[in-house]
Amino acid sequence: MTGPEAGRGAGTGRTALVTAAANGIGEATAHAFARAGYRLVLADIDRDGLERVRADLDGSEVTLADGDCTTEAGAAAAVEQAVSAYGELAVLVNAVGGSRPGQTVADLTLDEWNRWVAFNLTSVFLMCRAALPHLVACRGAVVNVASGAGLRGMRANPAYVAAKAGVAALTRAMALDHGPRGVRFNCVAPGPVRTPLMRRNRTEAEIAAMGGVAVLGRIGEPEEIAEAILWLAGDGASYVMGQTVEVDGGVASMV
Ligand SMILES: NC(=O)c1ccc[n+]([C@@H]2O[C@H](COP(=O)([O-])OP(=O)(O)OC[C@H]3O[C@@H](n4cnc5c(N)ncnc54)[C@H](O)[C@@H]3O)[C@@H](O)[C@H]2O)c1
Repeated sequence: MTGPEAGRGAGTGRTALVTAAANGIGEATAHAFARAGYRLVLADIDRDGLERVRADLDGSEVTLADGDCTTEAGAAAAVEQAVSAYGELAVLVNAVGGSRPGQTVADLTLDEWNRWVAFNLTSVFLMCRAALPHLVACRGAVVNVASGAGLRGMRANPAYVAAKAGVAALTRAMALDHGPRGVRFNCVAPGPVRTPLMRRNRTEAEIAAMGGVAVLGRIGEPEEIAEAILWLAGDGASYVMGQTVEVDGGVASMV
């Protein structure tokens, strides 16, 4: 069942808005939340991908919001669609982001810097700002997708590294400012994960080599990140606030 006509669902019955939901970590998150009984609003610029995910989620309540989450209008529209479809918004997962390594500060143009920061950091600000009144009303939760790159660095990817560090910092800032009103803000920081983004940027040999850095000896799967996001969004994490949870197979413990 889809759209506003669907009415309240079973399971948790709460509404979750997931950005970047047409592929990769966002798509896996949509599946995890659907299994947990959430009503879903899925936002992405890839309409065909969203339609595919909705078809895969047959039996769940799903509304699609095909907008650009890096713009004020797109972020506001996605939140508005959630509220008009289901009358509330309890969980926001900000997964929009990504990068293409290959440049250092020496050769990065200002336009490229601004584009990567908008993609990875400003999108989180805009989505959270638009959703905040509704999250306060529900005493809801935000889970942002940062990156291990933002904690430890990554070669030839300075805008991404800085923006993802900013996501973790912004999460803590919002926890301080808005946590007292009952909204929990947390982050996951994935290590390398097998998604379309990863396959665009790296060869199979490079992906295997990245996995070798983890204690577990492999890169992660999107579903493994989604499970951490689901936990952080839910009542099981009711005393977790402002944290960045690394989900990386143990990369952090090896350096
Ligand atoms: N894959 C990894 O190894 C990895 C590691 C650490 C962090 N991350 C982070 O996880 C998040 C998801 O990454 P992924 O690997 O699943 O990416 P992906 O490229 O596989 O999927 C990203 C999705 O975002 C959508 N999108 C792009 N621009 C958008 C916009 N402006 N508005 C709405 N949707 C938009 C795309 O259409 C796509 O469906 C990103 O924030 C990324 O930085 C990924």
